[in-house]
Amino acid sequence: MTHRFPENFLWGGAVAANQVEGAYNQDGKGLSTADVVKYCPPEERQSLEQLLSMSGQQLEEAIQDGDQGKYPKRRGIDFYHRYKEDIALFAEMGFKVFRLSISWPRIYPNGDETVPNEAGLRFYDDVFDELRKYNIEPLVTISHYEMPVHLVTQYNGWESRELVELFVRYADTVFTRYRDKVKYWLTFNEINCTLKAPFLGAGIILDGKPNEKQVAFQALHHQFVASALAVKRGREINPQFQIGCMLARKLLYPYSSHPGDVLKAQAENQMAQFCSDVQVRGYYPSYIRRHLEQHRVTIEMQQGDEAVLRDNRVDFLSFSYYMSSVVSVDESITAKTEGNLSSGLKNPFLKTSDWGWQIDPTGLRVVLKEMHDRYQIPLFVVENGLGAADVLEPDGTIRDQYRIEYLAQHIEQMAEAIADGVELMGYASWGCIDLISASTSEMRKRYGYIYVDQDDGGNGTLQRIRKNSFYWYQKVIASGGTDLSY
Ligand code: BG6
Repeated sequence: MTHRFPENFLWGGAVAANQVEGAYNQDGKGLSTADVVKYCPPEERQSLEQLLSMSGQQLEEAIQDGDQGKYPKRRGIDFYHRYKEDIALFAEMGFKVFRLSISWPRIYPNGDETVPNEAGLRFYDDVFDELRKYNIEPLVTISHYEMPVHLVTQYNGWESRELVELFVRYADTVFTRYRDKVKYWLTFNEINCTLKAPFLGAGIILDGKPNEKQVAFQALHHQFVASALAVKRGREINPQFQIGCMLARKLLYPYSSHPGDVLKAQAENQMAQFCSDVQVRGYYPSYIRRHLEQHRVTIEMQQGDEAVLRDNRVDFLSFSYYMSSVVSVDESITAKTEGNLSSGLKNPFLKTSDWGWQIDPTGLRVVLKEMHDRYQIPLFVVENGLGAADVLEPDGTIRDQYRIEYLAQHIEQMAEAIADGVELMGYASWGCIDLISASTSEMRKRYGYIYVDQDDGGNGTLQRIRKNSFYWYQKVIASGGTDLSY
């Protein structure tokens, strides 16, 4: 079949500041929540929860710890100093869009100042100017898994309502500064992550909190309000802005045709879309009430919150999609797989990546169709890709055929979804240049079209090398997605 994508389809790639920039303490930047996450060697890893959580004591130790080598996100891949070279490579591939995030502590080092850090603002001016040189559209996430660490020690992150005002001030600053340089914005990366990993998603230390769900849902409410107020402010600053929300969208299948399994999968898929229900439709969905009651959660709202959510809905819905998983009511089914931010049951029909994530291109079509039916607003795939342990061959090549296959199959399913009637704005595959993993802080888990010479310990020249997938993606973009051959 011929794959058809709209003329103005935004082809490109995505990264996050905390996983690429490095320069963690340069030009006035404050310490971020990503800078205090320690590398954990594979033999010491017990669970994903262990990797993603943070205690007060661990945080205190990390803040004092000057041993930079232990904290990979402090060094990233040195995008801070090499962005020109990296952007030139993206341009060579033909990128139309580059998704990046702004580091909150580069702009407000502690998060609660009233005056922003000029050097931080200037850095992103330079990055956006560089992108403009090549006609690459920036897609900017305002908060991607980091905040000034001071907001954790002082306020316990998004548990505190005070963060709403601080975030809106930060959003206002970047909207105003980049009013004419950036059109596409996302407020929070994978906002639903707050429910699974409260430190990563919301800067919350849970130490001894009696009802973790209570804390997480309250934090999420604060993020919803902050996001909606940012949307409001953004539209006042530049009515041309397109502001979206961003969701981690994992698809859940019923293990069997047992009605209990089907019901369970339906409930979990609803929960996976709880945040977009609020941000796209503008109100809390009715199904959430029972869930909150069952978990003894009461969300404290201020007068006016409901109107703020209703009146400031997002323009488009973006999401990450890596994999699907399976649920069952039968407790004897225990074969598990790893996954993005949560593990799940094994699907016998699917293969897995080197990191145990189940590969399911058809699932992308399923979620695209489902979300299109549900919301009727434009969708944007802003993360998708294969984390793999690539090998640099003696002849200097990286033969990542497995990645090409993964990407081609997912792009093909996007084309099918478009043919099914889905309105899709673009595709920004994850980690277009190798970067530090969000969950494991490894360098070894690579997603890029561009190889970066660095290992988990930070050794290497940081040289950028084109992988085979680089040339393949260049061809895909040049053909407008019609040539996916490999
Ligand atoms: C998403 C995040 O959850 O998945 C990214 O938005 C992250 O920041 C990506 O890097 C892949 O996950 P990981 O754990 O393989 O880096």
